[in-house]
Amino acid sequence: MNERLIELKNVTKSYGRVFAVGGIDLHVDRGEVVGLLGDNGAGKSTLIKILAGAIPPTSGDILVRGVRVAHWDAARSRDAGIETVFQDRALAVQQSIVRNIFMGREITTWLGFLDVRKQRDEAERLMREIGFTSKVFNPESIVGQLSGGERQGVAIARAIYNKADLIVLDEPTTALSLTETEKVFRFVRTVRAGGRSILFIGHNIHHVYDIADRFVVIDRGRVALQATKAEVGSAEKLIAFMERIAHPQGTAGVAA
Ligand SMILES: Nc1ncnc2c1ncn2[C@@H]1O[C@H](COP(=O)(O)OP(=O)(O)OP(=O)(O)O)[C@@H](O)[C@H]1O
Ligand SMILES: [Mg+2]
Repeated sequence: MNERLIELKNVTKSYGRVFAVGGIDLHVDRGEVVGLLGDNGAGKSTLIKILAGAIPPTSGDILVRGVRVAHWDAARSRDAGIETVFQDRALAVQQSIVRNIFMGREITTWLGFLDVRKQRDEAERLMREIGFTSKVFNPESIVGQLSGGERQGVAIARAIYNKADLIVLDEPTTALSLTETEKVFRFVRTVRAGGRSILFIGHNIHHVYDIADRFVVIDRGRVALQATKAEVGSAEKLIAFMERIAHPQGTAGVAA
């Protein structure tokens, strides 16, 4: 039996009379990578903001390891082991890797001073844990000098330091080259091998197909498809499905 980490049941979010999310069931099990797909405005960001506790759902239940959590908010989300790497405000690029990993949760000595040595060792351990294998790796490197994929690695390392069981990545490969995307994939696979879970939001269906074990496609605030990679069969089939929900009238008669 898969260990259920988090589950949303019939979750909605409305703004006035508009439903950004209209009754979604979604779960993530331990040690799996779930790909969240959907067109612009489908409700992906709204959904992950709800998961992060950044906005309250209008209705519905959120269960952590099978137990419903009342008054869901950012603190409860963090307690549940959910860490979200938001696309735009992920890192302080003028700061070092170490500063970024420990920002707000610095390791100090018993006198309250920054424990520079311990932070550096811990940063090295975390970067190894996610599969960051650069020979020239230096925890004091400035994040702005790292490549795009490596920056995602720093954000993932920080999430792990913050005891994440579920790391939510919002379009982590959108601006990246193939080589950099491969780096992010390596981090994701290493993190999964360590028993953690990833919710991977993406626009590039090939990227999401490659990395995810299971897919959830959102269409206008509702789940249009929930299927494992084996059930879907190929990236082309997933793309065809996405095209059908984007242009339903143009494909009448095509079986789902
Ligand atoms: N604060 C808000 N007030 C009113 N409507 C909102 C608000 N936030 C989101 N919406 C609406 O909810 C719907 C879902 O938006 P959301 O940002 O979740 O989509 P998305 O799937 O993340 O899209 P994208 O791929 O463009 O990032 C959209 O129609 C959007 O206009
Ligand atoms: Mg979005």
